[in-house]
Amino acid sequence: MTERVFSVAIDGPAGAGKSTIAKAVAARCGFVYVDTGAIYRTVGLAVRRAGRDPHDPAVVAPLLPALAISFDYGADGAQRMHLNGEDVSAAIRTPEMSMYASAVSALPQVRAFLLDMQRDTARRQSVVMDGRDIGTVVLPQADLKIFLTASPEARARRRLAELNAKGDKSTLDEVAADMARRDHDDATRAAAPLRAAEDAVTVDTSDMTLEESIETVCRLVRERMVERGER
Ligand code: DC
Repeated sequence: MTERVFSVAIDGPAGAGKSTIAKAVAARCGFVYVDTGAIYRTVGLAVRRAGRDPHDPAVVAPLLPALAISFDYGADGAQRMHLNGEDVSAAIRTPEMSMYASAVSALPQVRAFLLDMQRDTARRQSVVMDGRDIGTVVLPQADLKIFLTASPEARARRRLAELNAKGDKSTLDEVAADMARRDHDDATRAAAPLRAAEDAVTVDTSDMTLEESIETVCRLVRERMVERGER
């Protein structure tokens, strides 16, 4: 008999704190954290390296069958992305790759290509998976769906701090403009646009500290596990 697995879907716009919060919640619950944005970023990197236009399905789709994309976890627990055998975990974390990821993620061919990889991961173990369409498309049967959001100002400030900490010299205005453009593109695309699932619990982190946000989500997980008779 296979062991019952529990899945938590966390969706929301860039900079709402999804990855930091999802990662901490997964660690506290003993679940595996899956950052699906990193998978789209890896496809974006492959398209960039091939010198193709990331918006054009006619040139992106033929690249997909030859891409070997996988992920694992380092000793520190961080998710590492591999593209054709190369560790690209650092290379995918640039503002340019954010735009490439957003562009390729609008292509239905790319979304279909990545769907099974994401579903298989959640079938094998309990996960906290974050992205844009996890509760709506990837795991519509997730045990708990959270839509994590925050005001545009709070999100831009947090993303700026992250970039600056890595030595990136972007300004608040640049980050806010990039984010507004990406929010708009992610929410208005035809293929799996960013939106809250009907049965998602919305958590607005604008006025919460990181610890409060993590605790809020952990409490929701614990409550849902009790409801489902898991603990
Ligand atoms: O979360 P992130 O910033 O690393 O995501 C990069 C891009 O990938 C983002 O602009 C939207 C897209 N994405 C998506 O369409 N679906 C997902 N499940 C995750 C990310």
